[in-house]
Amino acid sequence: MRSGAKTGCVAILAAAVAFGGGDDRVQADEAARKDEGRRDVHSYARPDEVRVRHVELDLTVDFARKELRGSATLQVERLPGAPADAPLVLDSKGLKIDRVSAHDGREWVALPHQVGKADPILGEPITIPIAADRSRIRVQYQTSPGAGALQWLDPSRTAGGKRPFLFTQSEAIQARTWIPLQDSPGVRVTYRATIRVPPGLTAVMSADIRPRGSDPDVYEFAMDRPIPSYLIALAVGDLAFRPLGPRTGVWAEPATIEKAAHEFADTEAMVAATEKRFGPYRWGRYDLLVLPPSFPFGGMENPKLTFATPTILAGDRSLVALVAHELAHSWSGNLVTNATWRDFWLNEGFTVYIERRIVEDLYGADRAKIEAVLGIQELRDELHRLPPRDQVLHIDLAGRDPDDGMTQVAYEKGALFLTEVEHAFGREKFDAFLLGYFNAHAFQSIVTADFLADLRTKLFATEPDAAATIDVDAWVEAPGLPARFTEPTSDRLDQVDRAARAWVSGQAPAAGLATKSWSTQEWLRFLRALPDPTPADRLAELDAAFGLTGRENAEVAALWLVLAVRGQYRPADARLETFLTTIGRRKFLIPLYRELLKTPEGTARAKVIYAKARPFYHPIAVDSVDRLIGPPAAAAH
Ligand code: BES
Ligand code: ZN
Repeated sequence: MRSGAKTGCVAILAAAVAFGGGDDRVQADEAARKDEGRRDVHSYARPDEVRVRHVELDLTVDFARKELRGSATLQVERLPGAPADAPLVLDSKGLKIDRVSAHDGREWVALPHQVGKADPILGEPITIPIAADRSRIRVQYQTSPGAGALQWLDPSRTAGGKRPFLFTQSEAIQARTWIPLQDSPGVRVTYRATIRVPPGLTAVMSADIRPRGSDPDVYEFAMDRPIPSYLIALAVGDLAFRPLGPRTGVWAEPATIEKAAHEFADTEAMVAATEKRFGPYRWGRYDLLVLPPSFPFGGMENPKLTFATPTILAGDRSLVALVAHELAHSWSGNLVTNATWRDFWLNEGFTVYIERRIVEDLYGADRAKIEAVLGIQELRDELHRLPPRDQVLHIDLAGRDPDDGMTQVAYEKGALFLTEVEHAFGREKFDAFLLGYFNAHAFQSIVTADFLADLRTKLFATEPDAAATIDVDAWVEAPGLPARFTEPTSDRLDQVDRAARAWVSGQAPAAGLATKSWSTQEWLRFLRALPDPTPADRLAELDAAFGLTGRENAEVAALWLVLAVRGQYRPADARLETFLTTIGRRKFLIPLYRELLKTPEGTARAKVIYAKARPFYHPIAVDSVDRLIGPPAAAAH
């Protein structure tokens, strides 16, 4: 079997022969082996020469100016073998740097520094000369109003309506918009933070909360395990806390906290179930933070403190697979991390796989199968839209925004690959392999080639016959889906498909559909099984029978509204506008705007709605919708 890393190795070797002749061969081979795609093309840092080990933040949260300001103090180390004059190179994007200094043992001494040319994706490198092999470097700085990681919310955009809210979103490469650091997932740091907030607001971070001093508006945090920069996170707002279990709990605005505590009641059991299979939870507490609805993602696995959209508060716990997903990242992602964004599938594919195992343990195999079938359906939809080069797990993202790799390919194709390996070797053996993998690489950042090496030596070598059934290259390096794999199936979704077909062919009046016991997921399948377009009169029939326009469940509402736009079902117009102007989760926005943009009349509506909604969306969502529609003329800035 051929792997991408080997291909690269051969190419470099060939180049060495062509340029340098035979003598350089061995050296080039060594270098290629060492590299194995480890270089992070999305960071200016050179962590193989000078590496940041620890970050200390001291930041003031200024809502009036929509700005964080203060300092980041970095403990840096020049690695053995690095040139004696190798500088510290940091990533930054839009930061205003006031002063850089080094501690000489007695005091802080100003240092010269150079800010490089701005790249629209990567931002600006900051180059700082360092004198000693171990140095403490302090950067005093301010964030810019356009910082991609930060969303500053006016009180009117919160559940309580009275206090402002701030949250960060650092993944993939936004940490550099609020902290000058080596913003690469291959660099792990511990951190401490002092956060100064306006009176009465609470700060939380992806870290332990430390005892505070005498000033109640100054918060202290510590993360004593080394984490990649994309997991550094902060939120500030009017926050309440409810325990869910001995080591789990939930933070939310007071107006939302009861609902959140009810929804997430199974969290403690999820932690226990995951530990039983994949080894100890190594982060101490596991808490959730429910954000305002403009949070651009469903969830973000910030260590010790998952950030979550309020759109999963369905009231019936039907969307808690998302909690299982973010929790699973405590193993796949936070413990064992993709070293570059090319290897993102190692984070997300493994996490979807584990998410389904947690769902199976807590809610049964039927429910897990349903999630798998819905997942592959979304994957196939996405594959239709993607060019072949973006259909591979080990995706080439050079020169592009890492966002381009954040598709169902990493998530669902990645999970399918692992499921296929599980089938070939049996669950018991595969679980043992995964347990060993997490233990062997705990607190490390690794690349695809590292995982494949483990897979071959620790699993494939034990059973060559089983190994021969898996075409690793087809899974990892080729577009689309391999010719042969076990298709996930669900009897319950098959029944829903039959019901949909019967209704489409006119056999059953809408009211006659056996939907009484349908879960959220069965409704999603039903809506996804309807013809494109389903005419307005038929949508009206469904709406009359099931009140779909009035559904509060955000997943169901989002699919229904896509159908409504497609079928030009006018009675859903108002709901569509409310949805798009109150929810900022990108996964819902993109399909809806995309659908609107298919007709001139829809395009006009999309522009009107977007002009209203844009100020409320997160910079990450704004960026994505701008790319679809273009910025509204008046609001463009
Ligand atoms: N880590 C991701 C979110 C993410 C990915 C943020 C890439 C920025 C860049 C998180 O774990 C995730 O996958 N969230 C999903 C939900 C999940 C249930 C599939 C989401 O937000 O939709
Ligand atoms: Zn994830």
